[in-house]
Amino acid sequence: MTRFLFLFSIFILSVSASCSDSFYEKFIQCLSLNSPPLIPVSTIVYSPSNSSYLSILESNVKNLRFSSPTTSKPLIIVTPLIDSHAQATVICCRQLGLQVRIRSGGHDYEGLSYTAGLPFVLLDLQFLRSIDVDIEDNNAWVEVGATIGEVYYRIAEKSPIHGFPAGLCPLVGVGGHLSGGGFGTMLRKYGLAADNIIDAHFVDVNGRILDRASMGEDIFWAIRGGGAASFGVVISWKIKLVDVPRTVTVFSIAKFLDRNATKLVHKWQHIGHKLDTNLFIRVVIQATSTTDGRFRNNILQLTFNSMFLGRADQLLKIMENSFPELGLKLSNCTEMSWIESVLYFSYYPEGTSIEALRDRIPQEIVYFKGASDYVKKPIPEAAWEQIWKMCLEEENSVLIMDPYGGRMNEISESEIPFPHRKGNLYNIQYFIQWEDGGVGPSKRHIEWIRRVYKHMTPYVSHSPRTAYLNYRDLDLGRNDNVNTTYSQAARWGLKYYKNNFRRLAIVKGEVDPYNFFAFEQSIPPLTFNEGKRATE
Ligand SMILES: Cc1cc2nc3c(=O)[nH]c(=O)nc-3n(C[C@H](O)[C@H](O)[C@H](O)COP(=O)(O)OP(=O)(O)OC[C@H]3O[C@@H](n4cnc5c(N)ncnc54)[C@H](O)[C@@H]3O)c2cc1C
Ligand SMILES: *[C@@H]1O[C@H](CO)[C@@H](O)[C@H](O)[C@H]1NC(C)=O
Ligand SMILES: *[C@@H]1O[C@H](CO)[C@@H](O)[C@H](O)[C@H]1NC(C)=O
Ligand SMILES: *[C@@H]1O[C@H](CO)[C@@H](O)[C@H](O)[C@H]1NC(C)=O
Ligand SMILES: *[C@@H]1O[C@H](CO)[C@@H](O)[C@H](O)[C@H]1NC(C)=O
Repeated sequence: MTRFLFLFSIFILSVSASCSDSFYEKFIQCLSLNSPPLIPVSTIVYSPSNSSYLSILESNVKNLRFSSPTTSKPLIIVTPLIDSHAQATVICCRQLGLQVRIRSGGHDYEGLSYTAGLPFVLLDLQFLRSIDVDIEDNNAWVEVGATIGEVYYRIAEKSPIHGFPAGLCPLVGVGGHLSGGGFGTMLRKYGLAADNIIDAHFVDVNGRILDRASMGEDIFWAIRGGGAASFGVVISWKIKLVDVPRTVTVFSIAKFLDRNATKLVHKWQHIGHKLDTNLFIRVVIQATSTTDGRFRNNILQLTFNSMFLGRADQLLKIMENSFPELGLKLSNCTEMSWIESVLYFSYYPEGTSIEALRDRIPQEIVYFKGASDYVKKPIPEAAWEQIWKMCLEEENSVLIMDPYGGRMNEISESEIPFPHRKGNLYNIQYFIQWEDGGVGPSKRHIEWIRRVYKHMTPYVSHSPRTAYLNYRDLDLGRNDNVNTTYSQAARWGLKYYKNNFRRLAIVKGEVDPYNFFAFEQSIPPLTFNEGKRATE
């Protein structure tokens, strides 16, 4: 095995060193043949010898774990300026027998949009980012390289009473986020971002560009929550806008964790998912270090972080009835516009202008690892004390609990591939970040996530234990190679998709039977007959 890997890495090196020049020529030739002549393809193709190769590659790396000298790097990067560049890239990668990785915003937790264990071409869609909002028809066409912050900004620019229900971090890319689900402060009222997609432009394995009508309902189903990268390249989404009030109300109540605060978390577990659907209260538990005399200590802070689609006086009434223990006062609430609430949740300093949402430079880039679970019945109070102990072991550990319920309960598990609907009280994300990327520190932090994940087993969903695709976790399992079978992949596939995994694999078998779009957690192709056998 070691010998095999060794030979294999020599193969990669030789491809990237000696053959790469002629390879680059061939690739450029193929792209030119398949693109319109207006834009010289040499302006959108980078090989490692181009001076800006590294800066383009790193411009969209959001996790430093995948930005080291030993991280696998693409033979070529293509940065399309028009749709047909993406079509040509698919055609040429197939012709030259190369894998492709598709990247929009680069937030993949495991770096799967820009790394691979094989020679590959990076299709980087960051320059396809136009946003066309049509307030009259209540929808927008958004290209995948846009960030969700830009989408929010462009909607708010045209109307103070329209919005879109996607995630909290404004830099997340529209491409990956919408194809994996996407949730934020409005999920209890409007569901996921993926629930609000009404059309798409998509490049299939043959390099054809398709819309909803021409791709058919199977592909259109699969790419909304199934992770589009197993099926092809999304170029743009047509999204449905939702109503937001002119004034929303936000609050953050922070406490140090003691027994009383634990009681609040416990109460929240019972009501967070049942509250008025205009009200979203998330719980964030964060360890930070303090210095107490000579001793450095970790302490835990608990924050109830909330958005209400309405005025503060209405919010207070709801809170008095359903969560009086929190002791929310009018002075704890801030009224603002919906677009200002987007900034509020993204941790920009107070007073930042909404123009900041157009800014694509991250505040900081760190090493991180995450994992997730769904909770279906409240975790016993005593168990929380154990969980706090584990959180205290590491500074910069975070637990984020997002309440479900509301609209999420009304959408069936098979409506789109994202299956975590009725019966889930909340999603819990385990997250840890660190700044020293040395082997020791990285190992220690990753081990922490694994220990917590193991510890949580008795308290979370089971058979299958479920997880959120957009918090991708390779510890759940990975494909060994392009021939990984349906049953092998089911180990991780059922966690993300439950029973939708089988339909995803059948759609994959129909549209990409030779598995061109393959990666560590891509859906394996299943022919209909195999599919019948697999479930018998
Ligand atoms: C700091 C941070 C905050 C986050 N906050 C939230 C949040 O509030 N809510 C939430 O739900 N999630 C959140 N996420 C998770 C986020 O939704 C996922 O990481 C999402 O997949 C990122 O999309 P991207 O385009 O930025 O990433 P990429 O790394 O570009 O893509 C992710 C995956 O999608 C594929 N893909 C990307 N573009 C395309 C395309 N055009 N066609 C086909 N396949 C494509 C990639 O190949 C890869 O498999 C957060 C992540 C981070 C790092
Ligand atoms: C990369 O380098 C080649 C050869 O010097 C050049 O022709 C091409 O324009 C460069 N690509 C970009 C995107 O700058
Ligand atoms: C909430 O308001 C009360 C009363 O004004 C105040 O004492 C308390 O500090 C506030 N809490 C937060 C978290 O701001
Ligand atoms: C916890 O709550 C009890 C009863 O409400 C109160 O008497 C006590 O002071 C609280 N403890 C802390 C640390 O806030
Ligand atoms: C996958 O299967 C094909 C067809 O059976 C075979 O030719 C190929 O070598 C296999 N690839 C790997 C990586 O095992």
